[in-house]
Amino acid sequence: MATNITWHSNLTYQERSELINQKGATIWLTGLSASGKSTIACALEQLLLKEKINAYRLDGDNIRFGLNKDLGFSETDRIENIRRISEVSKLFADSCSIAITSFISPYRDDRNKARALHAESNLSFIEVFVDVSLEVAEQRDPKGLYKKAREGIIKDFTGISAPYEAPAKPEIHIDTEKSSIEESALQIYNYLKDNNIL
Ligand code: PPS
Repeated sequence: MATNITWHSNLTYQERSELINQKGATIWLTGLSASGKSTIACALEQLLLKEKINAYRLDGDNIRFGLNKDLGFSETDRIENIRRISEVSKLFADSCSIAITSFISPYRDDRNKARALHAESNLSFIEVFVDVSLEVAEQRDPKGLYKKAREGIIKDFTGISAPYEAPAKPEIHIDTEKSSIEESALQIYNYLKDNNIL
């Protein structure tokens, strides 16, 4: 724990937003492995960038190669994973960029903490439930992880041997068994437009 530290301020969020003519927000995608979080996040990122809206994706797998390379998949590590990403995404939103996070983020309490952290600074936080049944996720199994989890080769695997707590009231609910990737990205894009974030 650091002591003798002082918060240093420069521009307010409002001043920055007016200077660069963009609002910030965090789009928080949550869902089972193979639900389509990363693919939807990529499509949304491209859609926004093509409209000259600054957006950046923070992806579960990718972040574990660097910032969170010290974390595994125990409950404690997942909580720390999401705590750090809550802070990082808040910085992106505060910089008036659109942070698109794609983490399983299995615990409701952690997602609520991420929401509260943004709310403290009046920053928009949009929870997107990327919904897929375990059955379909397991059929998709693009990385062969469900198979390994069933065989006991991977321990603590979400949906098989570790919990996933679905959001009770997400801002956006995507049924990935009915919507295409493009439709899903557009659903989020339209929400941002309708809520004056874009
Ligand atoms: S979490 O629960 O939010 O901390 O997970 P996250 O950082 O999003 O990482 C999920 C990706 O890690 C791979 N993987 C596992 N997922 C779940 N459980 C276990 N045990 C596990 N081991 C490795 C997997 O590729 C996840 O990516 P996605 O894109 O979700 O399939």
